[in-house]
Amino acid sequence: KKSCKITVLPGDGIGPEIMESAIEVLKAISKKYGINFEFHEALIGGAAIDATGDPLPEETLKLAKESDAVLLAAVGGEKWDNLPTDRRPEKGLLKIRKELDLFANLRPGKAYTALLDASPLKENLIKGVDLLVIRELTGGIYFGEPRGIEERNGEKVGYNTMIYYEHEIKRIAKLAFDIARNRRKKVTSVDKANVLEVSAVWREIVTEVHAEYQDVELEHMYVDNCAMQLVRRPKDFDVIVTGNLFGDILSDEAGALTGSLGMLPSASIGERYALYEPVHGSAPDIAGQGIANPIAMILSAAMMLEITCKLPEAARDIENAIDKVLEEGYRTGDIWAPGTKKVSTKEMTKAIIKYII
Ligand code: NAD
Ligand code: IPM
Ligand code: MN
Repeated sequence: KKSCKITVLPGDGIGPEIMESAIEVLKAISKKYGINFEFHEALIGGAAIDATGDPLPEETLKLAKESDAVLLAAVGGEKWDNLPTDRRPEKGLLKIRKELDLFANLRPGKAYTALLDASPLKENLIKGVDLLVIRELTGGIYFGEPRGIEERNGEKVGYNTMIYYEHEIKRIAKLAFDIARNRRKKVTSVDKANVLEVSAVWREIVTEVHAEYQDVELEHMYVDNCAMQLVRRPKDFDVIVTGNLFGDILSDEAGALTGSLGMLPSASIGERYALYEPVHGSAPDIAGQGIANPIAMILSAAMMLEITCKLPEAARDIENAIDKVLEEGYRTGDIWAPGTKKVSTKEMTKAIIKYII
């Protein structure tokens, strides 16, 4: 019998609520496909700070390294917002990405026919959107040194460094072209090369890597223009490859286009490890009410089934079940529209599982 050892990190806010949904769905998949999931829950983020003082306890990292995959919900919340940057819940997430060398974050954004009414864009603009943001995840301004807060000339300054090494750009560019080959064969590389040296190098290396992928179209775009074009003509994008900060921003934008951030899953992958996490955060404004949209988390689990567990049929099963419940009009608050059924996190999960078994 096939087996998969999974580290489960519920984290903070709506994290535990949506993680419960993903686990329920995986249990249904387990029965249907005869795969055995071994779930090991551990602490990260604010929950870990409260219990141990550390947003990423050594024990959690060790467990993650011994697992086939990590499922993470979300971290962060007001309670920890006044801690210094390197002791906040978010630091736990950044550290696990870095320690597992998860250099690529795949964030697919696609328009659901049943959800066209939830998009802020006109239907003709959004219908048929199917894009993938590939965000560099372990470099750039998130990790660059020097960084800090200090006093200079009698006043406070804060600073960070946006830096990319050639090898970091090469590996993410290669991955983007390889993935584009199995899609619509178009890559948009997003940078700010008109202003930043780091982007000039980014553009040069991406162009170099492209030489071995002449069957794939490459276009370069400045990030400000890209933010605009994503709203104006989102259908023209296939694969977007970009650095850590630009990717963070553009993927939230993609989330809003296609209905809700609560719909957007992601896979953070490296050579050895993989972690699956929704694009959204801990949604403190709706935490504890049982109304969060579990779909981003469930779809992240589906990405795990496909990429790590090598069960693409099971992933398709989940996607199809989600299509069906959306068509039937089930909606959590974030995607609700008049004439549809407003449901809780649990009701949505139940409805999805009904179509899996
Ligand atoms: P957020 O993504 O948590 O929320 C933004 C908005 O989207 C909120 O109105 C929220 O209610 C809504 N939303 C998000 N996910 C939803 C879901 N599944 N269902 C329904 N509505 C949903 O971003 P924020 O408010 O800027 O950040 C809140 C906290 O989350 C912060 O501490 C931040 O650092 C953290 N954060 C964590 C992650 C992560 O763990 N991967 C990602 C982003 C933000
Ligand atoms: C995300 C989040 C994180 C990021 C934060 C919480 C560290 O916004 O996963 O998109 O900026 O990478
Ligand atoms: Mn983000």
